Formats: sequence, C-alpha cells, structure tokens
Amino acid sequence: MKTHKIAVMGGDGTGPEVTVEAVKVLKVAAAKFNFKLDMTDFDFGGERYKRTGETLPDSAIEEFKKFDAILLGAIGHPDVAPGILEKGILLKARFALDQYINLRPVRLFEGVETPLKNKGPADINYCVIRENSGDAYVGMGGVMMKGTPNEIATQTAVYSRFQVDRCLKYAFEYARKYGKKAQGKSDKNTLALCGKTNVLTYLYDIWERAFHEMGKKNYPEVARDYYHVDATCMWMVKNPEWFDVIVTGNLFGDIITDLGAITQGGMGIAAGGNINPEGVSMFEPIGGSAPKYTGKNVINPLAAICAGQMMLETLGEEAAAKKIDAAVRDTVAKKLKSLAAGKMGYGTTEVGDLIATAVAQ
Ligand code: IPM
Ligand code: MN
Repeated sequence: MKTHKIAVMGGDGTGPEVTVEAVKVLKVAAAKFNFKLDMTDFDFGGERYKRTGETLPDSAIEEFKKFDAILLGAIGHPDVAPGILEKGILLKARFALDQYINLRPVRLFEGVETPLKNKGPADINYCVIRENSGDAYVGMGGVMMKGTPNEIATQTAVYSRFQVDRCLKYAFEYARKYGKKAQGKSDKNTLALCGKTNVLTYLYDIWERAFHEMGKKNYPEVARDYYHVDATCMWMVKNPEWFDVIVTGNLFGDIITDLGAITQGGMGIAAGGNINPEGVSMFEPIGGSAPKYTGKNVINPLAAICAGQMMLETLGEEAAAKKIDAAVRDTVAKKLKSLAAGKMGYGTTEVGDLIATAVAQ
C-alpha cells in the first residue's frame, strides 16, 4: 500500500479548525481508496511565535523536505504585527521549498451564489497560475530617512528569465492537459498571460517574449492570449467565461485571485497549492485566519478540504481526489445554505462530517 507523508500545519485563528476537517476527510478517502497518510502535526504560528519568538526555523524547512506534501491552515495573528508571520512562515516556506507555482482554480460550484450577475458554473471555471517565487515578494529594496518627511521606500519587482521560463512551462503544460476549449474565443485550450506591458516595460516584456517564444516553439496546440492586469480584473467580472488558464506574476496573481475567489463564492471555498513540481508542495485555503470566527465552529472548512483534494491530485491519488471533489460539489448544491461563516446551516465540524460521509459512500 502506498504511504504519503504529510506535514500538517494548522497555524493561526480558524486554521487549525478547518485543517482538522480536511484531515478527517483525507483519512476517510485514504481508507476508501487504499492508500496511507502518515500525518505529522507542526505548531508553527502566532501562538508559538508569542511564546518562543520563533516563526519557521531552518530546521523545520529541513524537516519538511522529508515529507511528500504540506497541508496548511492559515497564518496571521491579531497580536502579531502584520508581515512577521506572513514573511516568517508562509513566504519562508514558499521560498525555501522553492514552491514556484501557486495554482489557484476559480470554479463556481452549482448552487453557490456569486456576486456576478447572470453568471453561472459554466462561466466561472478557470484557473490562475500565479508565479510564486519572484516579483515584489523577494524583499529587495529598502527604506531611508525613515520617519522623516524625506523618507524614501523601494520594493523592487524582480524576475529572472529562469523564473519566468519555469513558470511558463508549468502553465503551458497545465493548459494543454487541463484546459477547456474556451468558449467563443478559440477552439483550442488557451493560456492567457496577465501582465502590464504598457507600463512595466521591462518586467512584463521579459514575460511576454518568453511566453510567445515558448508557446510558438513547444506548445502550438495551446492558444495564446494576453491581457493587461487592469483589464483582466474587468473581464473577470464582465466575461469570466473568456478565461481558461491565466498565468501571471506573483503580485498580480495575489490580487486577481482574491477577485477570482469572491466570484466563486468567497474564501470559504477557495483553495490553492504552492507547488514545487520537483519537490515538496504546500496546499492551503487561500483565505486568512479569520480571528473573529475562531473557536466558534462557524468557519467554512470547504476551502481547506478542497486544498486537501488538490494535494491528493498532486500526489497522484486522482480517484480519491475526484471523489472529494464530487462530495464537495454535491454537498454545496444540496445541503449548504451559504458558504459564508455562520450562515452555512451547519457548523464547521458538521460540514466536515457531511463531506467525510459522502466520500465514504
Ligand atoms: C496569499 C496571501 C499571502 C500573499 C500573504 C498572507 C503573504 O495573501 O496567499 O494570497 O500575499 O501571498
Ligand atoms: Mn492573497
């Protein structure tokens, strides 16, 4: 029997609660589909930081390298200044484990309310591939004369051709394999680059050239499209059905995936994977730690469960992943009143139970 070693990091706020539900569902899936999950808990997060001053030590990164995947809840604590835990834990894991892809599907499930008027599951069904190792996230820059009227701050967006190429390769492969024939625009699977070539004439020029060179040479069966990031936001609201697979830099990817998440029903359902195709990947609900809902059994665990589902897909447990996907879709369509915290008609643990039961069947 195949065994997958999973590091589980519940993190802060509602993170541990939703992670417990994801683990519950994963265990049921493993039993049903004949594989083993060997799970180890890690308590990195705000509480530990407050106790010990430690965020995510290098020793933990070395430890994580021995696992097949990481399941993360949420990072962010109301008593800890913004940036410390995000940089010290979440971004540290992404960077140190070189999880250079952030895969964020935007899928509206049947029965879920979207703020987009007259749009349904057939329209909101695409995937954002956010580059996850470069851009303004690299921490290059600085401040001088801080606190004076002459203060200067810079934070530089950085991309190497190497980073761009490896991300594009993943994106083209993904579009070729999982893309849908985009309605209206092309009869091919389509990869759209989201950039800002009209202003960031260095940063997105390297992306645009690499995009067309690689596409022309290696992926003629994938159609190529381009949108500026501002326009991307507009079309994600007005014509989401145009999109199939979108690839973009780290910062634009961060921003447009929150927009995407709200169109698919919000943070209660949006999941993502920080992927190192050659290494250890980390899966997470893309919402935050939601401190005000902590410990109340009201937070929606579906995003964490969907993160677990993506983890199984990546680990090659496709049948189990499909089953969880079907269970989530069915439960959302037939049982849940809403995906919002406190409005589901069920508590956090009950939603976990509903999915676990459906997966077991
Ligand atoms: C995300 C988050 C993180 C990011 C923060 C918490 C550092 O917003 O995963 O999208 O900016 O990447
Ligand atoms: Mn974000």
